[in-house]
Amino acid sequence: MNAELDAVFERNYALAEPHTLLMKAQVRSVYDRLLETRHLPGDCIEFGGFRGGLSFFLGLCIGDLGLAKRVIMLDSFQGLPQTEAALDGPFERGMMASDLQSVQGARAALGLDDVVEIRAGWFEDTLRQMPPAAQFCLAHLDADIYASTKTALRYLLPRLVPGGAVVLDDCLFFGANGVLRAAREEIGQELHLHLGPKTQAFVFPKGDPRSDRRAPLWRTLGGQRYDVAELLTRSDYLELATWEEAYYREHARWYADYLRLLSGSPNLPPDSHRVASAIGMVRKR
Ligand SMILES: C[S@@+](CC[C@H](N)C(=O)[O-])C[C@H]1O[C@@H](n2cnc3c(N)ncnc32)[C@H](O)[C@@H]1O
Repeated sequence: MNAELDAVFERNYALAEPHTLLMKAQVRSVYDRLLETRHLPGDCIEFGGFRGGLSFFLGLCIGDLGLAKRVIMLDSFQGLPQTEAALDGPFERGMMASDLQSVQGARAALGLDDVVEIRAGWFEDTLRQMPPAAQFCLAHLDADIYASTKTALRYLLPRLVPGGAVVLDDCLFFGANGVLRAAREEIGQELHLHLGPKTQAFVFPKGDPRSDRRAPLWRTLGGQRYDVAELLTRSDYLELATWEEAYYREHARWYADYLRLLSGSPNLPPDSHRVASAIGMVRKR
């Protein structure tokens, strides 16, 4: 990887880190998707911006890379809407409420008022107000639950440019299947999901912009096939996963399972589901 592009990542991750729930490896994976799609037309969009960290990160990178793009960040600022226990597991209404004024203040402090557009309200309402010609090269879906992910995908897919990337957080979350189910229903049963770090997956519903991506290397987890070729080429993702394993020492078993999955032994012990749910909840605090 180009040292200058790595420096852009490190600098902007450090600025965005106080405002995001995402781990560094997850942000890095979104950055890699931005690099892959940056020459395509269209803006970036984040469904579920919370305190703004990932949207700010993308805005800062857009500036540093000299891209003529903007970031649209959508959030209720009231936390999650009504959830369905069978699909959304531990996620509950009202979780992860944030404060619009503080987010606007942080955006101004980072000099991003012209790059990151905040649309406050429920997706169902704010998406109706979007300009008709909107199109997107990169989307980060981080709304956690089935109904919100479904609404987001229904809006997004017709407006995603060929080669555009959709990054789905919580798409490998044993405690909640809502995101994966919505993706299957809206993108199709034959999802070619690439496994990102931790619970993240990414997909190119209209074709992969990179012709040199390695041949798929599949692993099955939770009944879904994930292509892990990308992760295995990225020693920094594996290093970060190892670091996270130490950081979340009390949940090290989950990471041990995850690393074993990546290194080719998909026989997970039965209690990994329970531990994965627990780590998901820890992350959301
Ligand atoms: C996990 S947080 C997002 C974390 C954020 N991406 C970050 O970088 O830290 C999920 C967010 O989705 C928002 N959300 C979920 N469903 C929504 C909906 N239907 N309309 C608006 N906001 C929604 C919640 O308010 C919450 O802030």
